[in-house]
Amino acid sequence: MQNLTIKGTCEINGTVQVSGSKNAALPILAATVLCHQPVCIQKVPHLKDVTTMLSLLGNMGMTFSIDHKLNVFIEDSTLNLYEAPYDLVKQMRASVLVLGPMLARYGYAKVSLPGGCAIGTRPVDQHLKLLEQLGADICVEDGYIIAKAKKLKGATLTFDKETVTGTENILMAACLAEGQTIIRNAAKEPEVEDLADFLNQMGAKIEGAGTNTIKIQGVSKLNGGAYQVIPDRIEAGTLLIVAVMARGSITLTECQPSHLEHVLDALKQAGADIEVGDTWIKLSMTARPKAISLVTDVYPGIPTDLQAQFIAMNAIADGESKVEETIFENRFMHVSELLRMGADITLDRNIAVIKGVKHLVGAKVMATDLRASAALILAGLCAKGSTQIDRIYHIDRGYANIEEKLCKLGASIQRSPSSHFHTA
Ligand code: UD1
Repeated sequence: MQNLTIKGTCEINGTVQVSGSKNAALPILAATVLCHQPVCIQKVPHLKDVTTMLSLLGNMGMTFSIDHKLNVFIEDSTLNLYEAPYDLVKQMRASVLVLGPMLARYGYAKVSLPGGCAIGTRPVDQHLKLLEQLGADICVEDGYIIAKAKKLKGATLTFDKETVTGTENILMAACLAEGQTIIRNAAKEPEVEDLADFLNQMGAKIEGAGTNTIKIQGVSKLNGGAYQVIPDRIEAGTLLIVAVMARGSITLTECQPSHLEHVLDALKQAGADIEVGDTWIKLSMTARPKAISLVTDVYPGIPTDLQAQFIAMNAIADGESKVEETIFENRFMHVSELLRMGADITLDRNIAVIKGVKHLVGAKVMATDLRASAALILAGLCAKGSTQIDRIYHIDRGYANIEEKLCKLGASIQRSPSSHFHTA
């Protein structure tokens, strides 16, 4: 296991390029199962979750190569095994995204149930319920979802709850279903829209992605082609929050400002000066951030994937704030670690009440999940002294070259093998 040592209070200034979106790349890679011709996916981010998805697809028989620009060429998407094993699914819940496309193309899929994770129970009941309504026969045996269907049949479906990967699974399955499918209460996240754009480019007939109602006219097969994934709005948001906390001045390039409207508004409220172009964002901050209260929400609201980073910002902001988490029930693991660094935060069920302190102080802390680890890096960058973050494999799951990017902006971060100071 490795850890990061971060020297606090460095100046953060400069330009950094945003990577391709993890949460868009994963469903698009899973969707290549539906394609009968070669596919090239461009701007795939270099991170562990992508490696896990590629291992999963490779394990089932897909052949692909990756070039130095991280374009993934799917040479032959034919599978000879229709099973996503527990060993891979437990590393990444998004592995469940292969369920819909495998079932639609091969009429059979066996996928390990993801189980719980650090941020809550995260069930997949909605994925299964809507697949059944498309005509699948589904059972759970020995911890595996087993889904069968000779031919899926289009239907009008309604999610009880907006779910991002749930919408993506059903969208992929419905592409090859017979007739028309209407998905109501669909997730509107840009990653869902990006998946639909990819599928349409490969020959699918989808309308309305990015809204609550998506219509899909089934086709007999999908073709191939090239597609570039959208920029990662969560990485972009994280880097902007770093600059606000460090009172820096940064320019993000190759990003999509329209995906970050509520986040940019929040950062402006905190005192940041922000300019945007079509594909860039310039942020500068000269004073201590003002505390801002937030509620996480589905898109276009403040993403739950930036909640931990906003709490880190409020921890050193001027004033008191409340941050309410509405998407996941147990997503405050970073709070106890921030307390070890001198933050003043109290938790009241799904609300964190934060009294900003002037300085955090470096400490040894432990990353507990992907976005919690980002929050600890942010806190470490602004703390007095040095911070050591253990279990940083979490951050490697979701951020491409994070240390390189931050060091390029002026941070001092070193990666080294872990000492064993945590036992849990
Ligand atoms: C995706 C993102 C994740 C993000 C989350 C919310 C990917 C790979 N991951 O996760 O980064 O934090 O969206 O924006 O895109 N739920 C059910 N039953 C279901 C499915 C979901 O009750 O069948 C609940 C979940 O427990 C959660 C809520 O619905 O409370 C939203 O979860 P969902 O949108 O499904 O999150 P993911 O797709 O897993």
